[in-house]
Amino acid sequence: MRVCLVGSGAREHALAAVLARSADVVATPGNPGIEGRSQEGHSLSSSPAPALEIEADLYVIGPEAPLVDGLADRLRAGGKKVFGPGAEGARLEGSKEFMKKVASEAGVPTARWQAFSAGEVAAAKEFLARLEGGYVVKTDGLAAGKGVLVTSDLAEATADVEAKLSGASFGPAGQKVVIEEALFGHELSLFVLCDGRTFLPLLPAQDYKRLSEKDRGPNTGGMGSYAPVPAVDGQVVGEVLETVVGPTLAALSRRGIDYRGALYAGLMLSEAGPRLIEFNVRFGDPETEVVVPLLSSDLTELLAAAAGGGLDRVAPPQFSARSAVCVVAAAPGYPGAPETGGLISGVGAAASLGDVHLFHAGTSRDEEGALRTAGGRVLAVTGIGDDLARARRRAYEALGLVSFEGMQLRRDIAATPLSSLRAPA
Ligand code: AMP
Ligand code: GLY
Repeated sequence: MRVCLVGSGAREHALAAVLARSADVVATPGNPGIEGRSQEGHSLSSSPAPALEIEADLYVIGPEAPLVDGLADRLRAGGKKVFGPGAEGARLEGSKEFMKKVASEAGVPTARWQAFSAGEVAAAKEFLARLEGGYVVKTDGLAAGKGVLVTSDLAEATADVEAKLSGASFGPAGQKVVIEEALFGHELSLFVLCDGRTFLPLLPAQDYKRLSEKDRGPNTGGMGSYAPVPAVDGQVVGEVLETVVGPTLAALSRRGIDYRGALYAGLMLSEAGPRLIEFNVRFGDPETEVVVPLLSSDLTELLAAAAGGGLDRVAPPQFSARSAVCVVAAAPGYPGAPETGGLISGVGAAASLGDVHLFHAGTSRDEEGALRTAGGRVLAVTGIGDDLARARRRAYEALGLVSFEGMQLRRDIAATPLSSLRAPA
């Protein structure tokens, strides 16, 4: 079996490493970490060729941009087996308004909302003024995770609506906004494999979106993650499947959308039950870096079954009883304007520790073969252990061996894992 994996980040490196337990993997464009052989003897390589020019038995699309852009449709039109929704299904992530419409039509519990276009500033302000407790303003289109403002300050929310709708802050992508009430509780990420009819959940995880410790500083793509989440048992997952995932996939199906791929539910957990914050149409990053290394089932078989419409014929995903903690090392200047080109040292020593996965996120090799920083998030280091405390120690021990100029990391990843849903932070 040969798998073509689209993407270049640490999420793709983690997927490649686990797919290569049972398949040869060629990543496009891939990264310097995706190379060589797995312990099981399968090859890993990175190729600059576009996915449409790579021959494979299964295509797995990692990031949202190619999904929203219809890459899965183009591959399927050529008769390929693809894990990843087509452009219609990918609108769940590509348009916040579409996502909210589908959620409302499916009766999914989610924040009260309304969408507004450029000419509707006055109506938008009126809607804002009627919300209580907190305000959330989102660009309708993709904005690389930066298009969302959450605030308790009505004046700040109003100014943000004006800046977005006028095109000043996000250009055309911001000229439609979704305004919604703020939800309170604990955030959770749950990935579900879907084949158009059947769906199977993976292990729930938590990620850390803010740059700095104690959840301060700007939002980022994610600075760390851990799994499993002690407070989230099978009952909570069951409730999410029943109230959020099942009704959404049924609503998509009624619209004629055959959703095959990962559905990522971003949830707010409260004592009143789970509420949907957002859907992504792919695996999360850095949650993938803790979820898939713990998988004891065959990932290739699962993704191939989802792509081929046969999830009802495979055993549900099984996970090891161990825990995983991932800490991201980011370049100086991230998330604004990261400085790249810095020399990275210690990767070999860190990777040779047992129970450590060192995933490349934004690296490149220079002419001498030395590893350099080449993106905002540079490395994602996952430690595995018998419990979260041990996994955490392992991740920080490995990161202690790695260095590059101006390296930013959070020291509090998984320091206080969520152990109860009773006392919201
Ligand atoms: P989104 O791109 O929709 O996931 O929003 C990015 C982040 O903003 C989420 O992960 C949450 O941390 C936060 N957020 C979004 N919507 C809400 C909401 N209605 N209430 C509270 N926080 C939210
Ligand atoms: N971890 C957040 C995301 O992948 O969007």
